[in-house]
Amino acid sequence: MSESASLNFNGKEIKLPILTGSENEKSIDISKIRSETGLITLDKGFKNTGSTTSNITYLDGEKGILRHRGYSIEELAAKSTFTEVCYLLIYGELPTKIELDNFENTIRIHTLVHEDFKIILEGYPSKAHPMGILSSLITSLTAFYPESLDPNRSKELVDLSIARILGKFPTFAAWSFKKRNGHPIIYPDNSLDYCSNFLKMMFELPSESYVQNPVITDALNKLLILHADHEQNCSTSTVRIVGSAQSSIYPSISAGINALWGPLHGGANQAVIEMLDSIIRDGNNIDKYIKKAKDKNDPFRLMGFGHRVYKNFDPRAKIIKKAADNVLEKLGVSDPVLDLAKQLEKIALEDQYFVDKKLYPNVDFYSGIIYRALGFPPEMFTVMFAFGRLPGWIAQWKEMRENKEPLGRPRQIYTGEKKRSYTDIAKR
Ligand code: ACO
Repeated sequence: MSESASLNFNGKEIKLPILTGSENEKSIDISKIRSETGLITLDKGFKNTGSTTSNITYLDGEKGILRHRGYSIEELAAKSTFTEVCYLLIYGELPTKIELDNFENTIRIHTLVHEDFKIILEGYPSKAHPMGILSSLITSLTAFYPESLDPNRSKELVDLSIARILGKFPTFAAWSFKKRNGHPIIYPDNSLDYCSNFLKMMFELPSESYVQNPVITDALNKLLILHADHEQNCSTSTVRIVGSAQSSIYPSISAGINALWGPLHGGANQAVIEMLDSIIRDGNNIDKYIKKAKDKNDPFRLMGFGHRVYKNFDPRAKIIKKAADNVLEKLGVSDPVLDLAKQLEKIALEDQYFVDKKLYPNVDFYSGIIYRALGFPPEMFTVMFAFGRLPGWIAQWKEMRENKEPLGRPRQIYTGEKKRSYTDIAKR
């Protein structure tokens, strides 16, 4: 007999099926509760609610496990390239050499963007945050490729839209940076691999050609892989919920970019470096900031600490911490922020408040330090996170469409005024 849990309400017992995942994780299927009892379930912030079933990413927050399509993040970060991981996430298997070549060549065809995008870019004030520019440019793709608007048209069209967004995203990201600096944009160079092409568009100047450095390209590949997917996080859930209304891929991903921007999610990487810089400016007074983080009446939080699902350690943070040491050493960069981050981590990990609440460094705690060493300014950190998360959003959007998932539409408990009569404005 299949497993079930029972719920007793108003003298009636209803059986709720237990659903077991491939790693033996269990959930109660509550979809019949309302029709059987009239009750809805309430779980603010979806802290204990599964929104879907998925074949893409497995995560065990207690044990610090993260796997994509069955492959551990440790192995992928050590052995793979970002484009290979994109293929794995989107199409379900590691590509053969021929499949990878074809995939990379298809992306290459789409790196160039329509010249009219330059006019859109020109309209932004120079200090516009690149995340805002990026999300608008991604939505603007619908204007240039209106055939993408119908997500049900054909598998070939979906694949074409995927290749286009993978090709054009790095161009948009680099151009949003150039816009901020007031520098001329650099066109894609399709003789280069995916990451090298992006680095050239970011850092080449008309007066100075960009010299590729394998340390930087490798570090970029690793950082992008570490951010590639993270199951039903805030931005991915946003992508899936927007897509569930049969919105097409570009607006769905644009919505994900906006969700990621927030400092409690992907925006934390920029917030971490700003926090560390301000601690240094304030005389390296770590204790003061630990006290502030613990003070219930102070809104300050230790940015880069804590995670909704990791309650032991974030496996990505472990890899990034090691990579930060390695990259800074190889590039000969000395950044006092790295030492401060390590001191802060040590103190916080021994502090009862952080121990009791299971608050550990997350993926964003060290990523900004590496990005800064690679030459990226803080306002580009979240853009880099979005770049890395792109294949995850695509894979999750595609899976949701292929599984024909219903419209995402949570319910609520109303806590406002009961019915009352309208009073004329003169009598209020
Ligand atoms: N510093 C100080 N206290 C914290 C922190 C922190 N960084 N994070 C959580 N807490 C405390 C909360 O005040 C709360 O205390 P309480 O139980 O006494 O009210 C408790 O720990 C639980 O925190 P919640 O916010 O309820 O836990 P949740 O799972 O919702 O939060 C989150 C996760 C949002 C990531 C939180 O830890 C946080 O704000 N961290 C800082 C921002 C950050 O680094 N975000 C990036 C996350 S990784 C990512 O999205 C890529």
